[in-house]
Amino acid sequence: MERLQEKIINEGRVLSPSVIKVDSFLNHQIDPILMKEIGEEFARLFADDGITKVLTLESSGIAPAQMTALSLGVPVIFARKRKSLTLRDHLYTSKVHSFTKQEINEISVSKDYLSSEDRVLILDDFLANGQAAKGLIDLVEQAGASVAGLAIVIEKGFQEGGQLLRRQGIRVESLATITSLVNDTITFKKEEAP
Ligand code: G4P
Ligand code: NA
Ligand code: NA
Repeated sequence: MERLQEKIINEGRVLSPSVIKVDSFLNHQIDPILMKEIGEEFARLFADDGITKVLTLESSGIAPAQMTALSLGVPVIFARKRKSLTLRDHLYTSKVHSFTKQEINEISVSKDYLSSEDRVLILDDFLANGQAAKGLIDLVEQAGASVAGLAIVIEKGFQEGGQLLRRQGIRVESLATITSLVNDTITFKKEEAP
């Protein structure tokens, strides 16, 4: 998605050879027009997949997930990271290992909002090592629902998540794939011809 790539080039800040900061439009301040375009693009890509729910993880996935759900005409659910003190037995929960923070987080979704009837589009802002995606897939499977695919705003192609998930046969659609951040230079994977 060209506008997204331009935005990353113009406003992204390379923090290290493996991390890029995009606080001006995705992770802190949010560009709603860009989010709308992202939502329309994911809705177009998954238009024929019978999606009934969009599932993301709080907090940065919510904005693009909300716009995607709006375009698809379905609800959006965000998995929570904090442990709920109540209704623990009424939750699907999964453990997510964060390489960056070296900690294990529990993510959860209420059993009220995912059922075996659902066909779920999982969405996240970043795909790095794929641990969050794995946790979200686990929640969907616990509900007996099916995963239509993964919608990713920015994939870091030099980390293993994308390969790991695609090898499992999961459809992964990323709107921008960064192949390298070395020497403060952002390199993208070439977009395939439409
Ligand atoms: P990992 O698989 O690479 O270890 O990912 P990890 O769970 O450690 O990621 C921690 C957080 O950092 C996640 O957001 C993830 O989306 C985000 N992230 C990973 N790589 C990058 C990057 O290069 N740039 C930016 N800006 N974010 C990255 P989170 O903790 O869930 O936070 P939230 O923003 O969703 O609240
Ligand atoms: Na995230
Ligand atoms: Na984030």
